Amino acid sequence: MSLTLIDISHLLVTRGKEQYGGEAVSQLEHALQCAHLAELAGETPQTVAAALLHDIGHLLAPECRAADNAGRDGLHQYVALPFLRALLPPAVLEPVRLHVDAKRYLCAMENGYWEALSPASKHSLELQGGAYSVEQAVQFVSQPFAHEAIRLRRYDDAAKVVGRATPAFEHFMHMLATVTARHALAKMPAAVSA
Ligand SMILES: [Fe+2]
Ligand SMILES: [Fe+2]
Repeated sequence: MSLTLIDISHLLVTRGKEQYGGEAVSQLEHALQCAHLAELAGETPQTVAAALLHDIGHLLAPECRAADNAGRDGLHQYVALPFLRALLPPAVLEPVRLHVDAKRYLCAMENGYWEALSPASKHSLELQGGAYSVEQAVQFVSQPFAHEAIRLRRYDDAAKVVGRATPAFEHFMHMLATVTARHALAKMPAAVSA
């Protein structure tokens, strides 16, 4: 099954009201703050879209959070991918897929990163396999879109501030529509000129 833009919009405004893991913001506030931080940093529309959608697996599959609550990893970074593959390019899907691995990478490679994580994020890290070894970190960072995923991770970590102002939801849905339209056009056979 493929999601449409209307499906995504509906998910974000309905299930997005749910709390974001153990944090003090909702899923929708977290998504908007993450996308806003990416936009402020000058990221491409594709990376901003990845920031907006990176946790949508939690909304598609509430059993993800149930798994987390039961002490298991719900693998939310993978859940959304089959639903989004027809709609969005790898430049969006890959940072979404890699955003948990990027946390494991940063914990291994950056002094002070783990210490600065929120308690909820430290807890989920353990469920997700903990910090990478140096060898795993090197392997991770050699993948396409690993650097986008690492930057997304930093926006993700900072997107948990109660009451932070962001552009409206419609602003990011308009941007997402542009990204999907460009992707659809890129998939079409080149027009044959007369
Ligand atoms: Fe996540
Ligand atoms: Fe997140």
